[in-house]
Amino acid sequence: MHPSSLHVAIIMDGNGRWAMARALPRTVGHRAGMEAVRRVVDAAPELEIGALTLFAFSSNNWQRPADQVEGLMDIFRAYFEQDLPLFLERGIRVNVMGRRDRLPAGLRSAIDEAELATAGGSRLHLRIALDYSGREALLRAARRARSAYEISPETFAFLLAEVSHSGSMVPDIDLLIRTGGEQRLSDVLLWESAYAELVFTPNLWPDFHAADLQAAIEEYHHRERRFGQVHEVAIV
Ligand code: IPE
Ligand code: IPE
Ligand code: MG
Repeated sequence: MHPSSLHVAIIMDGNGRWAMARALPRTVGHRAGMEAVRRVVDAAPELEIGALTLFAFSSNNWQRPADQVEGLMDIFRAYFEQDLPLFLERGIRVNVMGRRDRLPAGLRSAIDEAELATAGGSRLHLRIALDYSGREALLRAARRARSAYEISPETFAFLLAEVSHSGSMVPDIDLLIRTGGEQRLSDVLLWESAYAELVFTPNLWPDFHAADLQAAIEEYHHRERRFGQVHEVAIV
């Protein structure tokens, strides 16, 4: 990833409400959400985004009705299968973060194939979090650490990337966007968001367009990131 490029993460929320507002099944909203994914993936490289992490399915989302969960798993599988040629054409490297063991076998093989085929992509690192829990990832990394007393934050971040199937170390999240109006993290990438700038938008995810991503990045550029320090301003 180019040092000046951004790591943007998105909590893609509001798909169900988008469908309900149209008296459609929630799964239709999830399918419409996939089109929004395609739009942001397409726009990201032009917006100086080097890494894009999309929160698609949290470990707590298994508690939803079975037909909705199945619908989502089918949509994810179709996405990896259908968009693989596009990933290759555009130089997009894909990694799926989170647990693999609970995903349906067909989805797992579509993911394996996409990850393997796109490993050489260098224009955009696209990370999709599926069956992901920020807390669980932290616990797994902690269990992997040989000595919790001696480990440096850098080594821990490396372990965390490894247990989360991040593909490689990616810099911390610069900008975290959540659509759908909720202002919470919902167990997203907790360590990686420590100093992320947060942008919450009432836009429902299927209504999110490249221009909205661009607006969020503009807002990000107007923020002053201090990382706990004081930026002295000359007083005249
Ligand atoms: C987010 O959309 C996607 C998933 C959690 C899979 P939702 O399905 O949560 O949509 P809302 O929040 O109910 O509108
Ligand atoms: C967060 O959305 C997870 C994803 C968008 C994948 P949820 O809809 O699951 O979050 P809560 O339940 O509103 O916190
Ligand atoms: Mg939601």
